[in-house]
Amino acid sequence: MQKPTNSWVALERAGALFFLFYAALYAFLAAMFGGCLFCLMWSISPYHPTYNDRVMPPGMTMAPHLEGHEIAFNASDRKSWKKYARSMDEYLRPYNDGVQERKNIHCTEDRYFMQDSLSEHEERKACQFKRSWLGECSGLRDPHYGYSQGRPCVLLRMNRILGYLPGQGTPINVTCAVKKGPPEALGGIQFFPKSFFELKYYPYYGKLRHVNYSSPVVAVRFAGVQYDTHLQVQCKLNGKGIINDSPTDRYLGSVTFSLDVGA
Ligand SMILES: *[C@@H]1O[C@H](CO)[C@@H](O)[C@H](O)[C@H]1NC(C)=O
Ligand SMILES: *[C@@H]1O[C@H](CO)[C@@H](O)[C@H](O)[C@H]1NC(C)=O
Ligand SMILES: *[C@@H]1O[C@H](CO)[C@@H](O)[C@H](O)[C@H]1NC(C)=O
Repeated sequence: MQKPTNSWVALERAGALFFLFYAALYAFLAAMFGGCLFCLMWSISPYHPTYNDRVMPPGMTMAPHLEGHEIAFNASDRKSWKKYARSMDEYLRPYNDGVQERKNIHCTEDRYFMQDSLSEHEERKACQFKRSWLGECSGLRDPHYGYSQGRPCVLLRMNRILGYLPGQGTPINVTCAVKKGPPEALGGIQFFPKSFFELKYYPYYGKLRHVNYSSPVVAVRFAGVQYDTHLQVQCKLNGKGIINDSPTDRYLGSVTFSLDVGA
């Protein structure tokens, strides 16, 4: 038997290097792939707010909301406002006192309801928001929500944003004013239960975890609106971090509707 020649040793070494090189390359590729997958899974995790959610301040929605942001009726003409009352009924059904008592807890303190110490996927509790707190606008005492008396109610909600802490410790409040038309024609405004969104309803943990969550509502009652006057009314959110005068997004932090009330 001949001793392996130098060229054999060199070849073996080259083979070993070759193997090492590819082993390292594949390990690297596998690690990179895993890393990418992890990042992707994290970014689409249902529990984490997306980048977008964090930077956009909330919009606002209202009821009644039918074919547009228009409220036009005559108090004495039931047919002209029945649809508004029905829209309010629907909006408020999830807030029925019995439903809220069954699903949610009674919270007394008004501060952010932080539940971050629970494990990620665990369900979060939510505070009650009861329909009966909306007084004249609850539809309980007055099933017509003031429309039959020419004193209509509207309901306002701030859009849900995962993990958002509105107002940086001070509740976001609501104000309504005439945008177009004679300012004095709007008359007195009442708010139920309060003119702001209490902190205890935030942060929102998302529908997977905050299974019974109910957004708080601010009800606005236009108790002295002048008859036969065409008004454009704007209701705005006010507070730290809120944008309510965006030239490009008219639902950001405010809602505008026309109001025509007749006898
Ligand atoms: C309210 O009544 C006035 C006058 O009778 C009528 O012109 C108007 O169309 C009515 N509005 C609605 C929304 O029914
Ligand atoms: C959600 O509501 C149901 C009753 O409908 C209740 O049994 C459950 O405990 C509630 N979940 C949480 C997390 O509060
Ligand atoms: C609403 O909030 C703004 C900003 O925090 C504050 O300046 C204003 O006084 C508040 N208005 C009412 C009626 O509470």
